[in-house]
Amino acid sequence: MTPDSFAFLAGLVKARSGIVLTADKGYMLETRLGPLLRREGLPGLDALALRLRAPRAEALTAELVEALTTNESSFFRDGKPFEHLKRLLPRLAAARPPGQPLRIWSAACSSGQEAYSVAMVAAELGAALGGRRVEILGTDLSREMLDRAQDGLFSQFEVQRGLPVQMLVKHFRQEGSRWRVSAELRAMVRWQAFNLLDDARGLGRFDVIFCRNVLIYFDAPTKSRVLGMLAGMVAADGVVYLGGAETVLGLTDRLMPAAGERGAYEPARSAAKAD
Ligand SMILES: C[S@@+](CC[C@H](N)C(=O)[O-])C[C@H]1O[C@@H](n2cnc3c(N)ncnc32)[C@H](O)[C@@H]1O
Repeated sequence: MTPDSFAFLAGLVKARSGIVLTADKGYMLETRLGPLLRREGLPGLDALALRLRAPRAEALTAELVEALTTNESSFFRDGKPFEHLKRLLPRLAAARPPGQPLRIWSAACSSGQEAYSVAMVAAELGAALGGRRVEILGTDLSREMLDRAQDGLFSQFEVQRGLPVQMLVKHFRQEGSRWRVSAELRAMVRWQAFNLLDDARGLGRFDVIFCRNVLIYFDAPTKSRVLGMLAGMVAADGVVYLGGAETVLGLTDRLMPAAGERGAYEPARSAAKAD
């Protein structure tokens, strides 16, 4: 691949998703885009770049971006945020006016394990939420991942990563060699395609936002922009959870680390007032 083709493809991916491809990612492009090249009958990445420069390449561009997302996820990933959520939800439920559901957003939800983990926490809390309804929204750029998430069908390997066996037995049904999330949990989650680079105000406000393990792929200005947007969408007493390798430090002063809680961030007082 010529440096010009690489720069073009990387520029396109960055503009469409925020994902930064550094110069050392040439090999990754070759391996991840191999199936797309074969299907399109293209001899290599230079030919793909040429095809994408032509008009009406929208669908192919979307496929390029999807192929370059990293979709790694697991149930109850990193543990701690879900422990924190277990303590947070009853407090938020008690603070809300009657009839108002708790709204939780799993932004960049990938194949759905994060949103279903949240649903399990809420289901397990049961009476501790005083009958309060919990609405979970799972969004991602990747339609393929959203389809998987909506299906709620996971392999033995996937359910063995992070999911306690009693939760598996209680909230999943075996289908052949795979496991389907129960209808009750699936009814708690709604799935929607959403790009974090887009204006999210139409999604409404949330009591809790999970935006984990996606900012790591963005550059600092994009991280700042997304974090600022999340700060404007979370309730003043709500929480934003980020991934273990992610932080707000140096990126926004509208979210502050929650004292003693790794990965949990609260809106700064001034941010809450500004909204
Ligand atoms: C590594 S997964 C994280 C999944 C989950 N949040 C977790 O922590 O386990 C990153 C996800 O971010 C999505 N993604 C990447 N760029 C995005 C963007 N601009 N808008 C929305 N989702 C994006 C990818 O499609 C991928 O599914």
